[in-house]
Amino acid sequence: MNDTYILAIETSCDETSMAIVKNGKDIVGLTILTQMDTHANYGGVVPEIASRMHTENITIVLEETLKRAKMTIEDIDAIAVTYAPGLLGSLLVGVECAKTLAFIYNKPLIAVNHTMGHIFANNIEYDIVYPTLALIVSGGHTDLLVLENETTIKRLGSTIDDSVGEVFDKVARVLGMPYPGGPNIEKSAAKGQNTYDLPHPMQEEGYNFSYSGLKSYIINLVHNEKQRNREIRTNDLACSFQTVAVDELTRKVKYALEQTGIKNMILAGGVSANKYLRKEMEKVCNDLNVTFHVPNILYCTDNAAMIGCAAYPMYKNKQFADFTLNAKSNENIENSIS
Ligand code: KG4
Ligand code: ZN
Repeated sequence: MNDTYILAIETSCDETSMAIVKNGKDIVGLTILTQMDTHANYGGVVPEIASRMHTENITIVLEETLKRAKMTIEDIDAIAVTYAPGLLGSLLVGVECAKTLAFIYNKPLIAVNHTMGHIFANNIEYDIVYPTLALIVSGGHTDLLVLENETTIKRLGSTIDDSVGEVFDKVARVLGMPYPGGPNIEKSAAKGQNTYDLPHPMQEEGYNFSYSGLKSYIINLVHNEKQRNREIRTNDLACSFQTVAVDELTRKVKYALEQTGIKNMILAGGVSANKYLRKEMEKVCNDLNVTFHVPNILYCTDNAAMIGCAAYPMYKNKQFADFTLNAKSNENIENSIS
C-alpha cells in the first residue's frame, strides 16, 4: 500500500500549527508558532488578537512545515483542518487556508474535531487499543469517553461547569502567576505541601465533573486572606489545589474503569502535560491492571500533528468535506465523526 501524507492545520486557539503526517503516525514535519507571550500581557487569550496573528503567520508556518518535511503540496494526499471547537475567528483562518489549498491543488479536504486530535496524539508513539476509556482534559474540555473503535465514541460524562484547564488558569491568575497558568501551578505545587483543606467537588458517584465550586472557594479564600493582611502560602495552595483537582479526575476514571471493565485507558489534552496527573493516573491504572497511555508532553498541548493523526482514519473511510465547510465554535465529538 502506498504511504499517505496528510497536511494538517490547527488554529483553534493561540497556536498556529501545521504538520505533515505519514500514515496517521509519523511526523514528517511540524511547526508550532505560539502566541502565548502576546496573550500573557492580557492574562488570557484575546480572540481578536489571536485571529489577526493567525492571519499574519499562517503562510510562514506553511512554508516552514513544507521545508522541514522537504516536500511540496503536490506530494500531499489530503488537507486536514481543525474546524471545531474553538475560537471562531481563529478557526476560520485555518479553515479558509485549508479550503484554498484543497481547491488550488485539487486535494481532498478533511474536517477534524479538535478533541479527536487530542485523543489521536496518543497514536504517535503508541497504537490505541480498542475499546479504551479516554479522559480529555484541556482548556476547553473535561470529557470522559469510551472509544469503541476508531469511529465510534460514547460519552460517559463531562464537566457541568468549568473545564479543569480553565480552573488551573483561573487559580494561577488569582495567585499572581502569568498565563497559561497550568504549567506555573505545576511548578509552584512541586515546591509546596498539601496543607489547605479544600472542598472536594461532586462527592456522589457518576461520570460528570464540576470545578466551579473549587474555583470560587479558592478565589474567595485568597481575597479574604488579602483583606485581612494574612499571608497566602502560594506553593502550598497550588499544591493543595492540584491535589484536589487531580483526585477528582482519578476518582472518576477509577469508577468508570470498574463499572465498564475496560482494560485500556488514554489521557489527552493540554492538562495531561501535568506530571502529577500523569503519575496518579498511571497508579490507578496499574492497580486495576489497565494499560495506560498518555502522549509525549510535546504533543499534549495544541499542535497540528495530532490533527493529521486523527484525519488518517477519516481519509481511509473517504470521509471528506466539501467547500461549504465552515468553522464552528462548538461541536460535540460524537457529531463530528458520524
Ligand atoms: O489542549 P490545550 O493546549 O488547549 C485547549 O484545547 O484548550 O490546553 C490548554 C490548557 C490550559 O488551560 C493550560 O493551563 C493547561 O492546558 N496546561 C496545564 C499544563 N500544561 C498546560 N495544566 C496543568 N499542568 C500543566 N503542566
Ligand atoms: Zn486543545
